[in-house]
Amino acid sequence: MTSIWSTKSIASLKAEAHEAEFGTETPNLHRTLSLASLVSLGIGCIIGAGIFVLTGHAAAAYAGPAISLSFVLAGLVCALAGLCYAEMASTVPVAGSAYTYAYATLGEFIAWIIGWDLLLEYAFGATTVAIGWSGYVVSFLRDLHIVIPAGFTGAPFAFDPASGAWTHTGAFVNAPAVAIVLALTALLVVGVNESAKVNNIIVAIKLTIIVIFILAGLSSVSTANWVTSGNPAGAFIPPNAGPGEYGWSGILRGAAVVFFAYIGFDAVSTAAQEAKNPQRDMPLGILGSLVICTVLYVLVSIVITGIVPYDRLSVPDPIALGVDVIGLGWLSTVVKLGAVLGLSSVVLVLLLGQSRVLYSIARDGLLPPIAARVHPRFRTPYLTTIGTGLIVAVMAGVLPIGLVGELVSIGTLFAFAIVCAGVLFLRYTHPQIHRPFRAPLIAIVAPLGAASAVVLMLGLPRDTWIRFAIWLALGLVLYFTYGRKHSRLAQSSD
Ligand code: ALA
Repeated sequence: MTSIWSTKSIASLKAEAHEAEFGTETPNLHRTLSLASLVSLGIGCIIGAGIFVLTGHAAAAYAGPAISLSFVLAGLVCALAGLCYAEMASTVPVAGSAYTYAYATLGEFIAWIIGWDLLLEYAFGATTVAIGWSGYVVSFLRDLHIVIPAGFTGAPFAFDPASGAWTHTGAFVNAPAVAIVLALTALLVVGVNESAKVNNIIVAIKLTIIVIFILAGLSSVSTANWVTSGNPAGAFIPPNAGPGEYGWSGILRGAAVVFFAYIGFDAVSTAAQEAKNPQRDMPLGILGSLVICTVLYVLVSIVITGIVPYDRLSVPDPIALGVDVIGLGWLSTVVKLGAVLGLSSVVLVLLLGQSRVLYSIARDGLLPPIAARVHPRFRTPYLTTIGTGLIVAVMAGVLPIGLVGELVSIGTLFAFAIVCAGVLFLRYTHPQIHRPFRAPLIAIVAPLGAASAVVLMLGLPRDTWIRFAIWLALGLVLYFTYGRKHSRLAQSSD
């Protein structure tokens, strides 16, 4: 039996991918995604609650007009990790993303931990965004004078972090959140191509709305809104008012908050086994979607703080507020529609990512093999897709957004750190393997990527760390009671 630190060889991973595509094992996943669809999957997953919801609060409470610098900073952290993901995805173009890369570099045990951790990014991420989606839909429908009864628009319990107590909200279930998750799950079961087509349409609409907002807003920018008084270091940055409140520490705190807006570019790598030309298109899909979204985010944050004084931005729909302020009330409804559509594609791609990660783990024997079953006609991992959808639907229906949302960033950052470490490790252990994409200056990019992910993790609250530790401990129990005993790698060496 191999040890828990044993790695899967790159050759065996490539052979597996080949077997899954051309071998006798049927049915298998469908290689159908073009480069455009991959970039669109990335954008579909990236642009969502972060820009449509969190930007306003982050500007009002932490960074002021300098929230655009927070976006630049968070974008840089993601670019470092993105380069490492791109190299890994071109070198090991197999479904499963960070989980698979860890299996090839740092061993089965770390791979399992990362696979378990990715549930926080994808399943909890989908839950968080589905709850945010519900909020936007309820407000959008209210604008159209359609009112959903309050008992069906929220979680039954709320958690008060100050007292640590749960209180009953009077609501029964968050029905819109449940409905969107179930509808998107059905789409994912029917096919990756169908899902990508719906995603492409949504992405086209949300990009158009964001570009209209930028263009319409630019002409109404008042530079006076960017100028804050009392800070000799730079009028653009409000003077520091305590740790994390304005000044440079506020920009940092703002970066940790808006980091959520970037989550999703790595979801592209989970679809490696469904890409037509993964070795060329994976890096382009990951980095292309990241670059496009970074540029848009910085422009949106410059515009929004230029048209609305930052201290008025702490609202759940800052972009809609922005268009109201410049007197384009009609655009406010369009922006809300863009957010509703935009958030649904985020949920779609996160659910897709989650099912591919679970599929890969099950193929390795660390989860029951039933989870790796592929539908004979739709050629999707339908049982994991349905299972993921049901669990996410229940969580989205009954949990408050704060409780799930805070775990998403810590889980994602942990995966980033491991992928950065893994890519460097592989350069030293396997200098010769074919790397269609090589991240530049890896000796700087990878350690800096890992370190900056850890720094952002350290900025997260203590409670989040405690919940993260409990989650990982639960994963360890599962690994030693099931995964270790059923691991295909361990059994193959018996
Ligand atoms: N980046 C995604 C969003 O902002 C998770 O909704």
